[in-house]
Amino acid sequence: MADQYAQSGEDMSTGIPAIRWDEPPEGPVVVLLDQTRLPGEEVELVCTDAPALVEAIRSLAVRGAPLLGIAGAYGVALAAARGFDVDEAAVALAGARPTAVNLSVGVRRARSAYDAALARGAVGEQAAEAALAAARQLHREDAEASVRMAGHGLALLDELLPGGGHRILTHCNTGYLVSGGEGTAFAVALAAHRAGRLRRLWVDETRPLLQGARLTAYEAARNGMAYTLLTDNAAGSLFAAGEVDAVLIGADRVAADGSVANKIGSYPLAVLARYHHVPFIVVAPVTTVDAQTPEGADIEVEQRPGYEVTEIAAPSMPVTGAGGGIPVAPLGTQAYNPAFDVTPPELVTAIVTEEGVVSPVTAEALAEVCGRSRGA
Ligand code: MRU
Repeated sequence: MADQYAQSGEDMSTGIPAIRWDEPPEGPVVVLLDQTRLPGEEVELVCTDAPALVEAIRSLAVRGAPLLGIAGAYGVALAAARGFDVDEAAVALAGARPTAVNLSVGVRRARSAYDAALARGAVGEQAAEAALAAARQLHREDAEASVRMAGHGLALLDELLPGGGHRILTHCNTGYLVSGGEGTAFAVALAAHRAGRLRRLWVDETRPLLQGARLTAYEAARNGMAYTLLTDNAAGSLFAAGEVDAVLIGADRVAADGSVANKIGSYPLAVLARYHHVPFIVVAPVTTVDAQTPEGADIEVEQRPGYEVTEIAAPSMPVTGAGGGIPVAPLGTQAYNPAFDVTPPELVTAIVTEEGVVSPVTAEALAEVCGRSRGA
């Protein structure tokens, strides 16, 4: 079950965490900052069981690859702590969205810890604690990864663009709303801002669900960054005007060959960047690199409901309400609505991970860098 309550009198300079575990007297809960309500309202969504979390994942109340992994892990811990069927919860959580590999990675981390505790003879409560410890660990690791990606990413920007005064184009949302820390691509832009080297952050609005306009602009404003919002289809003219020094995006899954699945609209930016000789940089933790997916064509791309395209969410309504928005196309119009696209490795200048930078992007270089954290 999920419950919503608005924050009042909160100090918004610190903000509400994107996800947290809580243990009120009524029992453990996973509390989310409901991203469907941003930027208008900062409202928490309290999940008391795995089905509520599954629904929150599907509706994008919680979203973005690394955060989905953390949510999946806490979801398993929640099912265990509340005495629900952990198997059933793990399957439902891992299958809630198909493209971001972090979700199943996070579910597996907590599930393995739970199973290992049971195998050691732990009783239910101790096994639940083991699942929670694994979720908390993943949460911490993601925050640490974020700091390291920001460092590597800023060093790469400075190397590629020695003049400083970076003008960076980004797509979708990759900041603290997707992470245990400050995010992936956005964390790099933020590091550049703090170092006084960000001249402008160009923010793609990211149709149809407007993660750029609603969420990245919200994060950029909160951090005092110089940012400008543009419609996705204005990006071409921005490149043509010579106004973009680098593209920084995140990833939902990186295949073993270096193909990058990310928010729909990323691939056209990669094509534009290549044509205009602008670096196209992907920032993602190693948990997003999936050695089990050989190449881009093997990545399952989530198809979302057509109403997200044929309707615009009404003010003060959740963006992904079941067709309750304002129609912008004739009734009955069919829509093509893939949530992600796949950029081939030859269009990617570099993949920045917490373990280092992969450039040029080859299967061997990617395996080598990711192997550092996997102890290979
Ligand atoms: O559909 P969403 O909003 O979950 O898509 C998120 C993205 O595409 C992000 O760019 C991606 O998860 C990388 S965030 C580190």
